[in-house]
Amino acid sequence: MLEKKRILLIVSGGIAAVKVPDLIRRLRERGASVRCIVTKGGAQFVTPLSLAALSGEPVYQDLFSLKDESEMGHIRLSREADIILVAPATADIMAKMVAGMADDLATTALLATDKPVMIAPSMNVMMWTHPATQSNLQILKDRRVEVVGPGAGDLACGEVGDGRMAEVLDIVGALTQFFQKREHKGGLVGVRALVTSGPTHEPIDPVRYISNRSSGKQGHAIAASLAELGAHVTLVTGPTHEPVPNGVQVVHIETAAQMMNACRTALPTDVVVCAAAVADWAVDGANGSKIKKSGGKMPALKLTENPDILASLSQPGPQRPGLVIGFAAETDNLLENARAKRAAKKCDWIVANDVSIGTGTFGGDSNTVHLVTAEGVEEWPTLSKRAVAERLAARISAHIQRHR
Ligand code: PMT
Repeated sequence: MLEKKRILLIVSGGIAAVKVPDLIRRLRERGASVRCIVTKGGAQFVTPLSLAALSGEPVYQDLFSLKDESEMGHIRLSREADIILVAPATADIMAKMVAGMADDLATTALLATDKPVMIAPSMNVMMWTHPATQSNLQILKDRRVEVVGPGAGDLACGEVGDGRMAEVLDIVGALTQFFQKREHKGGLVGVRALVTSGPTHEPIDPVRYISNRSSGKQGHAIAASLAELGAHVTLVTGPTHEPVPNGVQVVHIETAAQMMNACRTALPTDVVVCAAAVADWAVDGANGSKIKKSGGKMPALKLTENPDILASLSQPGPQRPGLVIGFAAETDNLLENARAKRAAKKCDWIVANDVSIGTGTFGGDSNTVHLVTAEGVEEWPTLSKRAVAERLAARISAHIQRHR
């Protein structure tokens, strides 16, 4: 799996840098080429000369080196790799990655790259468990940075606990798994997918609207996972703060009616996943001007039912996507209501999630779902929304392979 893979190895300043020569040796044994950037701190623990000798490549250290920049600019360095591996990754470099800092060659390459990044954290146990590091870790994971380790055990500082850089062979294993996964991906190449995400805003007047607490995290993660498997994804999303996933075509809408139009325009498509929390009602005859308070008299809002996008896309006909998947957001009788929704809307699968107060399903980072299909109900463990998305995308891919 590592044969001919180009690894840009960033060595930052931790004692675990002493394991890097062995890491390079193991990677090269497996046919990978390794090019190193070593930070100022990293060079305190391992000499650039030994890294150059072991990797058989020049070692890069200085952002402002005229020689290095003319031979191999930092942008090219960050792009001419299949993956960037940061090992060891100190608390400092993780924080810089989160903040988008670019004050040396290593951080500049990390910011400039369009390639996947894997980190092997290594630090003192208190630094590792500090809320700042844990929150940085979460942000990096959300940005799809791969993380290997750390392990627990005796630390160089004399303390015991989490923070030991993963063993060299575990890092090699994680890289192998990463490329294995990527090469077995592509199960959805040539497949068109439509995903809805986020809430809708239904205007009351030019400044007020009716909406809900959907953040778009689940829908956006699904769009990202389908794209990672090679699908051509159109994401129709209501207003959210979620970044647009890489390689996804996005259509921004506000109302349910606009979402419906955007979905219709995206047809034909092979798969649809309706994860949006579409407002069930719009305000009939929303005011063109801001409604004024008038002497304690309450304005009456007359509601009208919004179009049901999922039900409409599920209608039999030549444009019906081969696989239509809805979500059921329930506070009571989860499975009973989800089954009834699947039947009423005529979709193929329903992902049922409990959205009761305290579950954090709306807006949170994890989700506990049941997948309801014609074959029955599958109970999934509580997973991050990203993991739910990956699992759902893998199921979709397997279904499409079977029915091709
Ligand atoms: O966005 P997050 O904060 O990450 O939260 C994720 C989520 C809770 C919003 C998501 O997991 C979820 O459950 N989405 C569906 C929310 C919803 O509106 O559920 P529902 O049971 O009311 O609707 C059932 C299905 O019909 C859904 O697929 C919905 O997209 C669809 N629908 C509903 C109404 C409508 N007018 N048109 C629709 O297409």
